[in-house]
Amino acid sequence: MQILVSSEAAPKIKAGALVVPVFADAKLDGAVKAVDAVLGGAIADVFASGEIAGKAGETALVHAKDHPFKRVFIIGLGDRAKFEAKSLAKYAGTAVRYLGKKKVTSISILVPAEVRDKRLAASRIAEGAVEATVDTTLYRSEPDKPVEAETVTLLGTANDVNALRAGARHGQVVGEAVNIARRMALLPANDMTPTHMAARARDLAKQVGLKIDVLDEKRMKAMGMGSLLGVSAGSSQPAKLIVMTYTGNPRSSEKLALVGKGITFDSGGISIKPATDMHEMKYDMSGAAGVIATMWALAQLKPRINVIGIAPASENLPGPDAVKPGDILRAMNGKTIEVINTDAEGRLVLADAVAYANKLGATKIIDAATLTGACVVALGHAASGVMTNDEAFAKQFMTVANTTPERYWQLPLYDDFSQEMKSEIADLKNAGSRWGGAETGAAFIKAFVGETPWIHLDIAGTAYLPNESPHMAKGPTGTPVRALVAYVEALASGKGPRNGR
Ligand code: BES
Ligand code: MN
Ligand code: ZN
Repeated sequence: MQILVSSEAAPKIKAGALVVPVFADAKLDGAVKAVDAVLGGAIADVFASGEIAGKAGETALVHAKDHPFKRVFIIGLGDRAKFEAKSLAKYAGTAVRYLGKKKVTSISILVPAEVRDKRLAASRIAEGAVEATVDTTLYRSEPDKPVEAETVTLLGTANDVNALRAGARHGQVVGEAVNIARRMALLPANDMTPTHMAARARDLAKQVGLKIDVLDEKRMKAMGMGSLLGVSAGSSQPAKLIVMTYTGNPRSSEKLALVGKGITFDSGGISIKPATDMHEMKYDMSGAAGVIATMWALAQLKPRINVIGIAPASENLPGPDAVKPGDILRAMNGKTIEVINTDAEGRLVLADAVAYANKLGATKIIDAATLTGACVVALGHAASGVMTNDEAFAKQFMTVANTTPERYWQLPLYDDFSQEMKSEIADLKNAGSRWGGAETGAAFIKAFVGETPWIHLDIAGTAYLPNESPHMAKGPTGTPVRALVAYVEALASGKGPRNGR
């Protein structure tokens, strides 16, 4: 897909479809008004007939015979005063997905005047357009991939062209990174083992010139990563610890570590999960996929900041050498762990991964993990959980992350939860009671980050969605790529978050 920018007057645009935004106030202005005029009031008619009211997500298709554009695809964006740039990803995604299915391959999209930051607007539109093209049927003899638009052209005024171009390029990179993460997560566990993941990470690193180091089990053992290796013990597939390095500011000693849970299949181990929905546990590497894809994006967007991406990858299976409930593991920082439940494996691999981040000199750590069912109970599929040992850090992250199409909601990490994770026989145990499961999981990881400012993102409910939406296929979502990229850029620019418009 090529994303272009044009300042030609909307009524003169040659395209298979012209995508126009309308709002709930039913007022047609600017370019939309001009298009309506050449169509003899066809857009106004769609309102007058009651077909749409301009509410968010409403759509209508109008054919435009004898015009350079062959169709007009109208999309409602809801309340004009409350409109935010992040909704533009849905706007573009809905159009590209719908029109693609109708085999329309040249699409022009009006950039709504309501978003003053044109670079941001173009970025979100490009991102949504690129993300609309992934489908989930890749193992079918005849995959039903939507027809991908050949060109998506963003229409703005002559003054906006430069900002739109910069934004379009930015959004295309973010959208492609999101799709990389989604495709990795979509692969079944027999095609996405830790070894496959490491190979994929190497390919991606090579593409964009990132440094990469993949630690095998021997090196992990030499460093005392007994917690991570405890998880891989039950599988014939060896664990891998993938480390990607992006140096965007060689003179700075600041180093942000992004750490992603990479359980390529989570059977639960000896504490085996029920069969129902167990197949979904191929997505248990979504955090790792997100981190690897984010690093790929950063290498191209080049923010002035140093970032390391760490992905501990392992299967969690009940093989003959599997760790058993009651076993004691020793992590690389020397702490001992009583394994109460082998299904609480994410925190075990993350324990060594965050300790390794510290060893590599991380000055800030963000981990992302499909860590707990409890977080899904608390927040559903609506938002990722955020837990931290540094309130200011979390606040700064959430302010930026929530201007993206992803949503983040903080859960408290009271000391009570750390108390609950103390073991009778060892330093820590890996599972607490049923209650506050997202927080006790985070409290366990907290014990391995030490004094480093840290945020934990529980993406168990947001990394994949059970239903298709108008702008995106069902399945893996690419969360947390959008938020991580936005946060790293905000941190690098030192300007704090861009506002929502
Ligand atoms: N990968 C799961 C968490 C999960 C559940 C992700 C549902 C996505 C959807 C994780 O490894 C797990 O099994 N967590 C346990 C922890 C418990 C044993 C302390 C859980 O949430 O039940
Ligand atoms: Mn588990
Ligand atoms: Zn898991």
